[in-house]
Amino acid sequence: MKILVIGSGGREHAICYAFSKSQRVTKIYCANGNAGIASVAELVDIKPDETRRLADFAESEAIDLTFVGGETSLALGVVDEFEARGLKIIGASKTAARLEASKAFAKDFMERHGVPTADYAVAKSPGEAIELLETGRFGDASTPVVVKADGLAAGKGVVVASDRAEAINAINELESLVGADAASTIVLEECLFGCEVSLILFADGESFALMPPTRDHKRIGEGDTGPNTGGMGTFTDDSLLTSEQAAEIIDTVIRPTLRGCSDEGFRFRGILFLGLMMTEAGPKVLEFNVRFGDPETQAILIRLETDLVEICEAMLAGWLGETEIKWRAGSSACVILAAENYPAKPRTGDVINGLKEAAAHKDVVTFHAGTKLDERGSFVTSGGRVLGVTAVGDDLASALEKAYAAAGEITWPGMQFRRDIGKPAGS
Ligand code: AMP
Ligand code: GLY
Repeated sequence: MKILVIGSGGREHAICYAFSKSQRVTKIYCANGNAGIASVAELVDIKPDETRRLADFAESEAIDLTFVGGETSLALGVVDEFEARGLKIIGASKTAARLEASKAFAKDFMERHGVPTADYAVAKSPGEAIELLETGRFGDASTPVVVKADGLAAGKGVVVASDRAEAINAINELESLVGADAASTIVLEECLFGCEVSLILFADGESFALMPPTRDHKRIGEGDTGPNTGGMGTFTDDSLLTSEQAAEIIDTVIRPTLRGCSDEGFRFRGILFLGLMMTEAGPKVLEFNVRFGDPETQAILIRLETDLVEICEAMLAGWLGETEIKWRAGSSACVILAAENYPAKPRTGDVINGLKEAAAHKDVVTFHAGTKLDERGSFVTSGGRVLGVTAVGDDLASALEKAYAAAGEITWPGMQFRRDIGKPAGS
């Protein structure tokens, strides 16, 4: 069986890794991949936004199954393009991708279907957003409020402002931060408090299967300080959600969301990522993503025991509800090693040392994100997030210990990472 994976980050390395363990897979292609992915897949020089070329490639190479990593291709309708040509693909349709591509659409959708989320208002210009704040709609001048760009902004479009003045500042700067398109509509939200959990599920349009719950550490600095990043580390651990909490999320969030999609004429088939805040009033949705998280995927897929091909086939056939998905018991952790100066303009081109030594560690996989090979065949840094050192363990402490021990083998000038992955903020 021939597989095509679309994307080039640590998430896509983890997806290729999961496919590489399948007895049924004979060949994996990845468009456009990275130097680490090249160890399990043949790289194809087509970018995620070239949806027609991707479908042309899948046709000409007789690809049996395509798996989409990131939101760019989904929002551009890669799934619709493939399906129109009778090609099998896993991912959300262009219509379903609006749940991620437009925060205003997602908020209105949640309101229509009674999915619990923060109180919100949508503004069509910075002036209108500031006026809304000044009416007191989100509390007084000292109340925290969240400012979000409507469109896709690669994690840069959200500012949690501690008071109105900071929010106004954020509104005025949003366009220069994320571009005119993403910021043409602004969503204002009540600020929620509680513990954050990411819950990702496979969905076949009707039924769904949960993956282990994860937590992401988004800020660059230890103790959750400094600017937001794409994610500096994640872990999976059952203690993140009690079975009662999981049941409540299924009843109040997952079922109404999947039913809402069907009622509005677009079945949700693909990966649905729920960013949740566990508030005193119960779980509330911070965001929907229509794809795997990065680096959540690295920590999740390292625990997957069922063949990913089988899960994809169940999703396409609509029998996910009858498919048992097995996960390695225990926990996992992924520690991101990032380049100097990330998340601003990262320094690149440094030779990475210690990859072989890290690979000798048991229960550890180092997923590559921003890496390439130089002319001498050495791995060098080529992006902000460079590697995700990922480990499984019988409990969280042991997964973290293994991930940090392997990460300790790796060095390059200016390498940075957080030493507090898996710990509560501030500890
Ligand atoms: P999002 O991309 O919408 O998930 O937002 C990025 C991050 O901003 C989330 O992971 C939260 O940490 C924070 N955030 C977003 N919305 C809210 C909210 N309404 N209240 C508090 N924090 C939020
Ligand atoms: N790690 C967060 C995301 O992938 O959106």
